[in-house]
Amino acid sequence: MHPITIDNLENENFLNLINQYDPLQLIAIVDDNTAPFLETIHQITDLNIDAIQLPAGEQFKNINSLAGIWKDLTDNHFRRDGLIINLGGGVISDIGGFAAASYKRGIDFINIPTTLLGMVDAAIGGKTGIDFFDFKNQIGVIKQPKGVFCDVNFLKTLPKEELLSGFAEVVKHGLVNDKKYFEYCTSTPIENLDWNKVVKGSIAIKSNIVKADPDEKGIRKFLNFGHTIGHAIESHYLEIGNPILHGFAVAKGMIVESKLSVEAGLLSEDEFIQIENTLTKLFPKVSVKENDIPSIIQKMKNDKKNHTDAINFTFLQSIGKAVYNQTASEESIAKALFIC
Ligand code: GLY
Repeated sequence: MHPITIDNLENENFLNLINQYDPLQLIAIVDDNTAPFLETIHQITDLNIDAIQLPAGEQFKNINSLAGIWKDLTDNHFRRDGLIINLGGGVISDIGGFAAASYKRGIDFINIPTTLLGMVDAAIGGKTGIDFFDFKNQIGVIKQPKGVFCDVNFLKTLPKEELLSGFAEVVKHGLVNDKKYFEYCTSTPIENLDWNKVVKGSIAIKSNIVKADPDEKGIRKFLNFGHTIGHAIESHYLEIGNPILHGFAVAKGMIVESKLSVEAGLLSEDEFIQIENTLTKLFPKVSVKENDIPSIIQKMKNDKKNHTDAINFTFLQSIGKAVYNQTASEESIAKALFIC
């Protein structure tokens, strides 16, 4: 696993790493929202680092944007010994990491996540990739960055709903691995949370899991809880031209997958009710119309997490304890999607 620094960017780890590279072989990947943060990097490093700027949004995490990055790197004669600096949220670390992993058969990159989702999930653990047609993260590789630098000061600029979207991954970490962490995070009003503590807590959970299973052969699948349903819902809304935030789709996914965990005889009804009440209070409701269910189930059938014809899930045995490689019938999935 890569080193992770949770501190402000002035931390010496960041400067030490940047100083290992030829200053002319540094390039940042940013989006319209994070381009202003280049000034922060400039002030800290005293370098004017060139940047490739993408429009902001999941709908741009695609092959066209990736080809644009490859072209800019090629036009600038960017060398194999250079460093890509991904400065942004999950879209930037996913696509920028994949561009780095594929350009000239792989060059170094670091992630500077600027969103909560990036800090607690997307930037950590080396998953990189793009969406393909309507399938989320369909094309990509696992390649570890040289380092990840999480500065919670960036969160001050984040719109409330983006913060909440990232918070779904925080809640997931508690649900799959640590009941006390789940209770701390969900019993404190979001505006009173200590973000340093939350980011540290989530990163500790995620990085322990990724260290034990970087290639997702086993326990890394715990982190997919809520995502089989969540990704399918997110892809569906993207396809119909009405994108919803990742975390809101995952929150719905966690409720539905908790219900399926009860049906599978794993989770108690009482804990399901606790989870449903908590998530319903925290996140906006995502409704699924009966007519949309076949298309959502079709997307789950194409999910890369499946390794047989059956749809693959991570379920809960209790709050804080997950179990991977579970399945459910299409009828149960349809019913749970409709009633939850
Ligand atoms: N987002 C889940 C993982 O990195 O495995």
